Amino acid sequence: MTIRTVGVLGCGLMGSGIAQVAAAAGYKTIVREVNDTALQAGLGRIKKFLADGVAKGKVTEDAQNKTLANLTGTTDTDDLEDCDIVVEAIVENLDEKRAIYQAVEAAVRPETIVASNTSSLCITELAATTKRPDRFGGLHFFNPVPLMKLVEVIPALTTSQETKQALASFAASLGKEPIAAPDRPGFIVNRLLVPYLLDAIREYERGLGTIEDIDKGMKLGCGYPMGPFTLLDFVGLDTTYYIANIMFDEFREPRFAPPPLLKRMVLAGYHGRKTKRGFYTY
Ligand code: 3HC
Repeated sequence: MTIRTVGVLGCGLMGSGIAQVAAAAGYKTIVREVNDTALQAGLGRIKKFLADGVAKGKVTEDAQNKTLANLTGTTDTDDLEDCDIVVEAIVENLDEKRAIYQAVEAAVRPETIVASNTSSLCITELAATTKRPDRFGGLHFFNPVPLMKLVEVIPALTTSQETKQALASFAASLGKEPIAAPDRPGFIVNRLLVPYLLDAIREYERGLGTIEDIDKGMKLGCGYPMGPFTLLDFVGLDTTYYIANIMFDEFREPRFAPPPLLKRMVLAGYHGRKTKRGFYTY
């Protein structure tokens, strides 16, 4: 199928990044938020990223203008009627996702593909909430979306071969490298990343080293772009806690269990960079 128009549900950190890369790739892109305040904040994030890119010499003014010209915002799901693919990046809540899929399905054509950027929910369960379980799949982007090259393509049990191929081709057309991942908690990347992050917290609690030294160790010793605590603050402690709980529920293995310190930091509202406090203060 030919994709010309892309819909994005949610203009938060991930949704705005997905809308930006879709618009930059030349797709007419419509991003939907719940209200104008959230929409303007998300569009503002895209404009700032592009302006910073121009200032750093990484984005040309022409590319910036073309990206913004391809992009429109809305608070009305009916405006997504012409979309060939709709990528959902709203909150990780099954009921809210189900409700938005219903609204989208009332607006779009039968052949439109719906994809979720969920990092934790079961793709087969999400597909089953729609009337198009064969034209539904997971498309998992990484933060910051415009810079991270990877997209995981996760078929539900019901996803057709054609949809799987269309999702992978769409990801490639955004300049990303698609990989095929299974519909299991954590897919591929979080399945390996989250236990590593949890281990760092557990070992810190056991006195392995200071937060700064553990971060420096992994950054300078292994060439990781961020040490585990910097990355935890970047990803969000609440997000990591949520994914860990889902993985623990499914696999029942102690290494997926969130450490007590992580739970308490989340309860205290120390969610990382976004709340200006996590393992570091911002
Ligand atoms: N526009 C265009 N390019 C930009 C840009 C912009 N606004 N801002 C930065 N860049 C470019 C830079 O010019 C640089 O390019 P170069 O390598 O060619 O010189 C590159 O992007 C890196 O930018 P910076 O030098 O400013 O910043 P850093 O070198 O500190 O890198 C980072 C920042 C890319 C975020 C890096 O620290 C990193 O990769 N961190 C790890 C991020 C990560 O692991 N993300 C995944 C999290 S897990 C997830 O998302 C899954 C979820 O389900 C939890």
